[in-house]
Amino acid sequence: MTEPISGFSKLSKEEKIDWITTNYTKNAAQSRKILQTYWNLDQNVQQLHDEFIENTITNLYVPQGIAPNFLINDTLYAIPMAIEESSVIAAASKAAKFWLKKGGFKTTILGTEKVGQVHFIFKGDTNRLNSFFTYLKPILLAESASLTSSMEKRGGGITDIVLKDKTKQLENYYQLHATFETKDAMGANFINSCLEQFAATLKKEAGNYDAFSKQEKDIEVVMSILSNYVPNCSVRAEVSCPVEDLKLTEELTPQHTAEKIVQAIKIAHVEPYRAVTHNKGIMNGIDAVVLATGNDFRAIEAGVHAYACRNGQYSSLTHASIEDGIFTFWIELPLALGTVGGLTNLHPLVKLNLEILQRPSAEELMQIIAVAGLAQNFAAVSSLVTTGIQKGHMKMHLLNILNQLGANENEKAKLVTYFKTNPVTHHGVELQLNEIRK
Ligand code: MEV
Repeated sequence: MTEPISGFSKLSKEEKIDWITTNYTKNAAQSRKILQTYWNLDQNVQQLHDEFIENTITNLYVPQGIAPNFLINDTLYAIPMAIEESSVIAAASKAAKFWLKKGGFKTTILGTEKVGQVHFIFKGDTNRLNSFFTYLKPILLAESASLTSSMEKRGGGITDIVLKDKTKQLENYYQLHATFETKDAMGANFINSCLEQFAATLKKEAGNYDAFSKQEKDIEVVMSILSNYVPNCSVRAEVSCPVEDLKLTEELTPQHTAEKIVQAIKIAHVEPYRAVTHNKGIMNGIDAVVLATGNDFRAIEAGVHAYACRNGQYSSLTHASIEDGIFTFWIELPLALGTVGGLTNLHPLVKLNLEILQRPSAEELMQIIAVAGLAQNFAAVSSLVTTGIQKGHMKMHLLNILNQLGANENEKAKLVTYFKTNPVTHHGVELQLNEIRK
């Protein structure tokens, strides 16, 4: 068994690679070569990546593509998407093109409020704590003024701080629940710095508050951290058209297609097993743009899924209706994003992607990303209720299968042509490859 190592982080990159490949892989020389294949040829770019995280040994990259023709509030976007799954970008592009001719996507920002909390334990009289909080609030704001001044210049800052009594859920548990406006920044560092200052002020002022008993003065701050649940930092994106324009296949009438889509959405509202897969498809679109724009996809995922069960059961993020002959399809979801700070200023490709998106504000990016999610869901659900998902998906997956089977360029070209008119299955591709190799 490999021995534990101490001081790994202090080793050079070469030494780390030597250690990991020698101790954990069968063929160290080959493993080293694979790691090096993924290094960037430009030393400066590689150094940037090395310094984004700790113990970097290589880069794991996913392909980035473009989904063009997204008309959003009358502006035409080409959306960069970084994702490893075949058929996602094809599906987004198909949905974008379909809605382009029908007025495109309309979006609205529903709110931009971010949240952070100081979680603390107070053993004593709640009424006295309430009076203390009235005294404390202006001091919290005053003592965080140096942290908030530059954010305030940009139109943001702390929007409110309230005291929350959580003792029904957990004995002696209270919170300072603060809300923030962080403009174009995702704001995590700003929010966490403010919260840590609030915690210090809370502790200090409680210790000096004459009306508190000795025990009440001894507030224990458990932790201070932003919340990735941001139900009031949310966006709505929508498409609509007369039902008769919803012509997606030869097999189904537009009316029948619209009704089946509405039914599929209703199922995703009442059935969590379906809702999870339904929302996973939405996240295919959302994560791909979140990643391409250097935002934190784990924060987005956590917040979106919490929002999807805000009514007590995990449910669909999208909605559909048919009213007075008009089919409407929409999404509402929380998205806390930044277009300044973090990777957005550091990563050359992220900067380029933001340029491709016309240098959006955080609000504009929320709208673009919500649209990517809605488009993805429209594409998935409309395939599911018409041809089924496999036909389109397997066509896009064909090159992966051919690569797995070691097909050369000539064989790939022949089989791509063959499978234009034949259903793609792994076994079928294998048989045809053997056939042309005979
Ligand atoms: C696959 O990545 C996503 C879908 O399963 C989404 C859905 O079922 O709606 C196709």
